[in-house]
Amino acid sequence: MPRRSADGYDLVAIALHWLIAVLILGLLVLGFLMTRRSIDPALQFQLFQWHKSFGMLALLLAAVRLVRSLTVARVKPAEGLGTLERRSAHGMHYLLLTLAVAVPVAGWMIASVSPLEIPTFAFNLVVIPHLPVPKSEAAEAWWTTVHAVLAYSTLTLVFLHSAAALYHHYVRHDDVLTRMLGSRHRTVKTSIEEPGP
Ligand code: HEM
Ligand code: HEM
Repeated sequence: MPRRSADGYDLVAIALHWLIAVLILGLLVLGFLMTRRSIDPALQFQLFQWHKSFGMLALLLAAVRLVRSLTVARVKPAEGLGTLERRSAHGMHYLLLTLAVAVPVAGWMIASVSPLEIPTFAFNLVVIPHLPVPKSEAAEAWWTTVHAVLAYSTLTLVFLHSAAALYHHYVRHDDVLTRMLGSRHRTVKTSIEEPGP
């Protein structure tokens, strides 16, 4: 269904974007460090629990963002962008949104299919139930690979996405970055467009 289009990100979109960005970057570093062989097993257990806790939080926020992208007014592309730039930015945003959900779901699958059945204590407050899937070592190895490949692919795309934002800010001097920082925040509804991120 066509939706109204806004020419600036609202505060919820900005807060979700930066919260998820910080969480994903932190989880990439934590995920890399906690899987090193040399690490003490007791510390490793704690780090896994923190990784799973923040990972589930990232999943929750990404799901909210995905629902918003399908229901809330889509933001018009920044002014002065060519057709190819608009399309590639749009494609990148869809890809990042998909990965922000797929990476933690793959992580949840590792915990769920593992025959070790180690519970996930989210922030030492609640136990996150495992997904109802058959357990096996082969499935655990498969989802571990899927999770790692998706996570490091996300890192590569985030690098390109951030480089593009910096290029727009420092070379093109347009408002692509500033409007995501909230400094030129406008919420005027102007035209009708398809929904999207
Ligand atoms: C956006 C969220 C997440 C990111 C970016 C992320 C990233 C990573 C990374 C980079 C690794 C290390 C991969 C390697 O070098 O082998 C890792 C490992 C792992 N992650 Fe995540 N993760 C996320 C969410 C989750 C969630 C929600 C869970 C479970 C509830 C989870 C469970 C695990 C587990 C169990 C491992 C260790 C796998 C092994 O045994 O090698 N992750 N994660
Ligand atoms: C940490 C470095 C990051 C920077 C500097 C950055 C910068 C930006 C900027 C400037 C925009 C606005 C683009 C426009 O209006 O055309 C944007 C939008 C977007 N970014 Fe990022 N970003 C970063 C990390 C991430 C991460 C980690 C993700 C998700 C995995 C992400 C996903 C998105 C999405 C989906 C949009 C479209 C708007 C929305 O739905 O919120 N970004 N980003």
